[in-house]
Amino acid sequence: MSVQTQLLANDSLQQHFLSGHVSASGRLQALHDRLLQAIPHIDRIACALYDASDDSLTTFINSTRSGTPLPNYHFKLSQSAALSQLAENASIRMLDDLSHALLPTSVHNRWLIEQGYQSSFTVPIYDQRGFLGFVFFDSQQLHAFPEKTQRDLLLYSNLISMTISGEVETIRSLRASTHLACEFAHLRDFETGAHLQRMSHYAKVIAGSVAPRYQLSDEFIEHVFWFAPLHDIGKIGIPDSILLKQGSLTAAERRIMESHVNKGLEIIGKLIDDFGLAEFPDTVELRNIVGCHHEFLDGSGYPRGLHGAAVPISARIVTAADIYDALTTQRPYKQPWSHAQALTELQRMAEAGKLDPHCVAAIASAEAEFAVIGAQFQDSAPVLPSA
Ligand SMILES: [Fe+2]
Ligand SMILES: [Fe+2]
Repeated sequence: MSVQTQLLANDSLQQHFLSGHVSASGRLQALHDRLLQAIPHIDRIACALYDASDDSLTTFINSTRSGTPLPNYHFKLSQSAALSQLAENASIRMLDDLSHALLPTSVHNRWLIEQGYQSSFTVPIYDQRGFLGFVFFDSQQLHAFPEKTQRDLLLYSNLISMTISGEVETIRSLRASTHLACEFAHLRDFETGAHLQRMSHYAKVIAGSVAPRYQLSDEFIEHVFWFAPLHDIGKIGIPDSILLKQGSLTAAERRIMESHVNKGLEIIGKLIDDFGLAEFPDTVELRNIVGCHHEFLDGSGYPRGLHGAAVPISARIVTAADIYDALTTQRPYKQPWSHAQALTELQRMAEAGKLDPHCVAAIASAEAEFAVIGAQFQDSAPVLPSA
């Protein structure tokens, strides 16, 4: 049976692959299992996502049967003329003999050759908004992608594109609706868009850096990046008189301010229901980030006073990124701190047992990357106090 017949005849595969019950990585593995029955020499399927805000292409999910995955890898699409052209022209690329076709000029080209991959097939994928990313098929055989295989793999690419664009679109809608909710509540300035952009990019860098230690997948890192900007969504439920108050809060006001965490969890719970995401396994990290971004490892945080391992890694990452950005930007009551000053404070908090020391070490080693992010997303409006 051809792949096409097998694929079309098997609705259950499509249903399984598109179902929200399994993570995108799990769905790709299942699809790869099925594909191997028809085309046994596809050793790797990987998908990289494009982010137009910084022209980056980032590894997202992969199913690798031979060779070692290339984890948490990203580069500017404009740095690869060949891939830029594929994205622009919606054209596919088949390389029959990688060792001759690829120059070892980039990390990913060298990595492909080192893994023993001999041929590859690359398909750009799109959604309604435009270019979404690439699906890469690699084989350790030479000439593994004759025309008929290419036709079959285009069908598989469609399926991968459908599941990923569904997931990306859902997250985009979720983020857009929370943004709208903030505007509706006239609170859009309580934390600037630039703060959210910066801290989510910082969080992504930290997550990538601690990924080997905590065994975080690329998909997990991407979820941290997507969900980090929603950490303070609960502030839309805090009265202006407290949220926008200049000067220090009374004990009663502080309790109300701190209730933004539980309000955030309520809002997220409702959005998850409204968007039909209850079965989407990765919303766990959304809840963890919203619910635990003020917890400290020594139990001194709020609202639950969680200790140590009970504080999820996604929240530790977001907390470190959020505090770093608060320290290094101007607030109504203070000038921006330098990277070195902020780091000294974060290291003090790590030594006191509050922050994850590995997340802080990740910030220490990412000064140059953080500087680029800070310069790229600058505040244009005055910043109001944050809890
Ligand atoms: Fe907060
Ligand atoms: Fe924040």
